Amino acid sequence: MTANQIRQQFLEFFKGKQHEIVPSAPMVVKNDPTLMFTNAGMNQFKDIFLGNSPVKYPRIANTQKCLRVSGKHNDLEEVGVDTYHHTMFEMLGNWSFGDYFKKEAIAWSWELLTEVYKIDKSRLYVTVFEGSPEEGLEKDHEAFNEWKKYLSEDRILNGSKKDNFWEMGDTGPCGPCTEIHYDGRSDEERAKISGADLVNKDNPQVIEIWNNVFMEFNRKADGSLEKLPAQHVDTGMGFERLVRVLQGKQSNYDTDVFSPLIEKIESLSGLRYKSNDTHKQQEIINIGMRVIADHIRAISFSIADGQLPSNTGAGYVIRRILRRAVRYGYQSLGIKEPFLHRMVHVLANQMGHAFPELNAQKQLIEKVIKEEEQSFYRTLENGLKRIDQVCIDLNAKKQKTIPGDVVFELYDTFGFPLDLTQLIAKGYELQIDEQGFRKNLELQKNRSRKAGNIETDDWIIISDDDVEEFVGYDFTKATINLVKYRKVKIKNKEQYQLVFNLTPFYPEGGGQVGDTGYIEAEGERIYITDTKKENNLIIHFSDAIPTNPQATFNAVVNHHKRIYTARNHTATHLLHESLRAVLGTHVEQKGSLVDENYLRFDFSHFSKVSEEELKAIENMVNEKIRANILLEEYRNLPIEKGKEMGAMALFGEKYGDTVRVIKFGTSIEFCGGTHVKNTAEIGRFKIISESAVAAGIRRIEAITSDKADSYYQEKEFLIKEINDLLKNPKDIKKAINDIITENSQLKKQIEILSREKVKNIKQEVIKEIKPLNGINFLARKLDLDAQQIKDLAFQLKNEMPNLFLVFVSEQAGKANIGVLISEEIVKDKNLHAGNIVKELAKEINGGGGGQAFYASAGGTNPQGLEQVLLKAENIFKTIFTKN
Ligand code: SER
Repeated sequence: MTANQIRQQFLEFFKGKQHEIVPSAPMVVKNDPTLMFTNAGMNQFKDIFLGNSPVKYPRIANTQKCLRVSGKHNDLEEVGVDTYHHTMFEMLGNWSFGDYFKKEAIAWSWELLTEVYKIDKSRLYVTVFEGSPEEGLEKDHEAFNEWKKYLSEDRILNGSKKDNFWEMGDTGPCGPCTEIHYDGRSDEERAKISGADLVNKDNPQVIEIWNNVFMEFNRKADGSLEKLPAQHVDTGMGFERLVRVLQGKQSNYDTDVFSPLIEKIESLSGLRYKSNDTHKQQEIINIGMRVIADHIRAISFSIADGQLPSNTGAGYVIRRILRRAVRYGYQSLGIKEPFLHRMVHVLANQMGHAFPELNAQKQLIEKVIKEEEQSFYRTLENGLKRIDQVCIDLNAKKQKTIPGDVVFELYDTFGFPLDLTQLIAKGYELQIDEQGFRKNLELQKNRSRKAGNIETDDWIIISDDDVEEFVGYDFTKATINLVKYRKVKIKNKEQYQLVFNLTPFYPEGGGQVGDTGYIEAEGERIYITDTKKENNLIIHFSDAIPTNPQATFNAVVNHHKRIYTARNHTATHLLHESLRAVLGTHVEQKGSLVDENYLRFDFSHFSKVSEEELKAIENMVNEKIRANILLEEYRNLPIEKGKEMGAMALFGEKYGDTVRVIKFGTSIEFCGGTHVKNTAEIGRFKIISESAVAAGIRRIEAITSDKADSYYQEKEFLIKEINDLLKNPKDIKKAINDIITENSQLKKQIEILSREKVKNIKQEVIKEIKPLNGINFLARKLDLDAQQIKDLAFQLKNEMPNLFLVFVSEQAGKANIGVLISEEIVKDKNLHAGNIVKELAKEINGGGGGQAFYASAGGTNPQGLEQVLLKAENIFKTIFTKN
């Protein structure tokens, strides 16, 4: 059975049990400050478990793209070293939201594994939660009794809180779980040691395949457990492990989920993957190949979900994974040029059917990865130069150890892992200060922990209205009540988050900034400084809480900001449509920011947008503005209907079953933002910049309405000022051109005159140069600028031997010095004009430098020039009277 068939069978099995099949949520998480990436199938249902969102389908099943590289669930270090952990993996899951519970969940998992997939029952073990006195929780007798229907008791093992009490993070839904483990060892080995003794013991052949979580609690910020309003089931089966079991392999990487990728790496590196050969040299190759085969999936899926590698947050995590893959290629497989991007089409071929975003975005993913790889190779090379230099210096100083902070710099700036630095150091017979390195690493971790520090208190409930209605599409004022609030500390600043029964405040989303404004009651006004969404809750930020939280408030949105933002948002839609019309339908939105001042729109396109194209795009948007197109808004439209209308969806965006569609004539988009009622309200649209954001991604910034008017007015004013300066010529362009031509002619004339001047002075100077101790010496002041001094010195150098000249001058309140020493003297006396000029420049409050035979300096104290000349003479004498 192929991996694709196995996935399909899972979904069909649960469909047969009345489960709704839903698509995977994006892997990159928006709207949840506690999570960067989806790390479990249940993330997208968190609010349903907590009772914050209504239950649409009581039973759901799907396959979810997960990434476990940060936070509570982080498997990165195991990946590739073992054969069954991954950064990105698929989690097959079935859910019950207040519907069935332990009995059915256990029965169906057994049925699917043993009757549909026909897994050998004698190889299966299960664990149940043994209870936890400190949490006041009993053993999960119910699960134990259910399992007894299918397995003998010696196969039902007790599991600790660590393994059998599943928690999403430090806070949030949680509950006891029961895991199903598979023993893949040979019969001979199984006869020797029972699989029961190897469950949860990191044996690569006895592995967990499925986790059934019984969600009953919410872990609060103070650490206590609170009973959830209903009981739910959340199961997660590692798809890659299941495929391995069903295909009878010893390693996930031997299944058809990974084998095409491994084959590609073999052909790129010219090396072979030998799963069963664990000799040291081959194991290095095996691990390298596994890491790369794993990481290319995480990287490609993230980019497809709209997360580009970058320097911060989720983007930084992706950049580090990409660099990790490159490093393994470089270090373990000896691949010395960008290669990862060449694996994307293999992945798309293999997984594009189940995840169409891979095919649709293939070209972009390749481009982004290639660019990242190229720049990282440059960094690696610079790192290699740096480490060589460090080692050479240490060798010269006869030191034995590379200091910890240098090892850390190589790690942090150049992406060198410790063992690579160690290896290179060895070549120079050096050791590394590992302890010092770890200390630096810890310091950095603390720094970044502090920077992103968010402390959240528990909610204080004021009333139990649990549906928070957004009324902001129709109103910017409303009468509202507080439902709950909590204190948060973000980067050490205390703020409050408020949730109301209904709200006119738009929460940041779809690129549009959150509303600001105030709420008012009993003569007290509390300002709302921002509004954001956290999962499905609309959270209002304020610096204070109302004295009487029970009061009824008048909520007022900052109307001016709202209107201007709406103009920019509608303009963004018109821009999107025009970009596709002018540049082509490969243009996909890759990010946007809309506030009251401007709009920013990032999109996929592979070359610079030309001036003509920009003009055409701008004109098209302005035509649509002038065409008075009315807003057609469809709320709660079934998503299929929206698609039929031709509405544009974004990759990496999570849409519900019903969507809002915003239509302005032919521009149709899924969108939750606020818009004008008629395009004419935008007034005017002006693009103010076009630039590159990353490989294959361009950015346009634009302004609208009176901001665009002001832009043109300022330009007009500037032209008027230029006109005035030029005394109102008939043809302004010609007048400026004439000035440019005249200016360059004048410059040429000045050059000629300047040369004349130098020539004349040269005649005088030559007469003054006196041979002294066999050297032609002169130190004097001239009426020349720095460049002329240099010209003069160079001309003299070509005409006379054995020169030692020091020229100084004062020009526009500044002092100049030039020192020329003929090459033969430089050599003979081992002199450097730079050193001499530096010494002389002290007298003029200045500094300078240059070559051994000529150097110059400038300074702010022309009064010191006399002293410079005296000093020059003294230096000359000291040098040339010594012997
Ligand atoms: N939430 C559980 C897990 O991630 C089961 O889906 O393992």
